Amino acid sequence: MQGNDKFGEFLKDVKTLAIVCNQWGDTGKGKFVDYFSEWADIIARGTGGANAGHTILINGKKFVFHIVPSGIIHDFEGKINIIGKGVAFEPRVVKEELDVLDKAGLSYKNLKIAYNAKLVLPQHMLMDRIKEADSGSKKIGTTGRGIGPVYADYVSRVGLSVNDMLNKEVLVKKIKKNLAEKIKLLRCYDKEAIKEIMHHPHLSDGRFYSEEEFFDVNAIAEEYYEYGKFFKDMICDTDKLLKDVLGRKRILLEGAQGILLSVEHGSYPYVTSSDPSIQGLTKGVGLDEKDVDLVLGIVKAFYMTRVGKGPFPTELGGERSEEWCNTHTRADEEKEYGGGTVNSSDEFEQGVGIRFSGSEYGATTGRPRRTGWLDLPLLRNAIKVNGSDVILTKLDVLDGCKIIKVCMEYEYDGDDYFIGEKVFRKGDRINVGVPDVNILKHCRPIYKEFPGWESDITKAKCYDELPENLKKIIDFVWESVGVNAKMISVGPEREQTIFKE
Ligand code: GDP
Ligand code: IMO
Ligand code: MG
Repeated sequence: MQGNDKFGEFLKDVKTLAIVCNQWGDTGKGKFVDYFSEWADIIARGTGGANAGHTILINGKKFVFHIVPSGIIHDFEGKINIIGKGVAFEPRVVKEELDVLDKAGLSYKNLKIAYNAKLVLPQHMLMDRIKEADSGSKKIGTTGRGIGPVYADYVSRVGLSVNDMLNKEVLVKKIKKNLAEKIKLLRCYDKEAIKEIMHHPHLSDGRFYSEEEFFDVNAIAEEYYEYGKFFKDMICDTDKLLKDVLGRKRILLEGAQGILLSVEHGSYPYVTSSDPSIQGLTKGVGLDEKDVDLVLGIVKAFYMTRVGKGPFPTELGGERSEEWCNTHTRADEEKEYGGGTVNSSDEFEQGVGIRFSGSEYGATTGRPRRTGWLDLPLLRNAIKVNGSDVILTKLDVLDGCKIIKVCMEYEYDGDDYFIGEKVFRKGDRINVGVPDVNILKHCRPIYKEFPGWESDITKAKCYDELPENLKKIIDFVWESVGVNAKMISVGPEREQTIFKE
């Protein structure tokens, strides 16, 4: 098979393709953006920032990108990668990612950065961490990368953009303006706690700390101005760049996070601060939803994961799992459970087993990802926004799992609760998930059980080679949700990818 042939029929009428996630993130967007980069001319990221962790595995070599688009591995072929205006741009992280590419002998000469991407500054990381530390049981479980504060500053009209790194005087002025209110607020917090956070390696080990005002404006401005010099030739009007080639060049849009983490469509407030749906992704690169010819929404199957806090109706081990994952590391887990098993009769330990089997540890924070069964009510809700074409990933993780459960619907277990004109009452069945925390935390999943499969599917080359039991679940699930499973992923490598039709 040569060049773009394998995409021939599949992407026949497609000029703009988007990869988004229909769950809580970490479904394999990195793998598929890398995969379709072979087809694309331009790859663009539109939302999120260093909170994302996108993993690509090529012949056993692993790359994890947080901000740089996952198409960068194809830069040497002349493909353009874009960091769009909707992205929270943290120069330190991007520079580190480019250094990794340098060391691996890979290029980034065609990388473009939106002049109006949102600039992450040390104060954003401090505010994020202070807020989390101060929230007790109300923590969101953020990644500590300053994402909430940077988007909040943008809508509060005190944010900075990438372009500000190019103009020193304006940079200093804007940093001062941005800090003014924060410094007043910070005076109410524990000084020692602030000092400690400001010395975190992500905040350059105290380089930006000042005893009097918490922040050394000149140190921040100098460092960011230097970054400006480094990135100067990459910074441009990426909206225009994309608009000019729309419909002519092949454009691939890379989603970050997942729709259930969307500030617009997710389980608010347990969400991130951008909109990772197809709506937010297109906006973040200056396009419109209708500009996209095909949206592929990734669905991890037949289990799913979530990192941080917030409701997760199908979580294996429920609250015990949430608590454990937010307070322990992979090493703790190995010591205590020795890897667990996907067939444990204890739900919590079965969750540990699936986590081990799927290597479900955060690509950004290393936290154990909470695991649970595939939730069809939430998927029915996701496809209302992201559309019904999906890619199923990580099916191999459940090789050897004897019984696979799929959540078909919920029984509502809470007090009367209004969503608009509709009232939810105890005992109601819910078929389409409502991502409202007060509903979700009272949803008892109703499962259908399926016999699993014994064989190793990681070497399957086509749909017919997959075990009958697995295909039966796919058929059943997709008939019940109304989605079209276009592709199936049976391992992290590019080659471990099957087109369904
Ligand atoms: P993203 O945030 O959506 O890009 O996903 P992450 O990179 O955070 O997490 C997905 C993980 O699953 C990565 O380690 C991938 O290498 C891996 N992965 C992707 N697809 C598959 C698959 O089909 N099977 C297995 N076993 N791993 C996969
Ligand atoms: P990718 O692109 C999984 C989660 C955090 C936390 C919440 C808010 O790899 O799928 P934030 O730092 O964004 O303010 O944290 O969102 N979160 C993710 N979880 N994958 C991600 O990205 C995530 N990005 C943010 O764990 O619960
Ligand atoms: Mg990830």
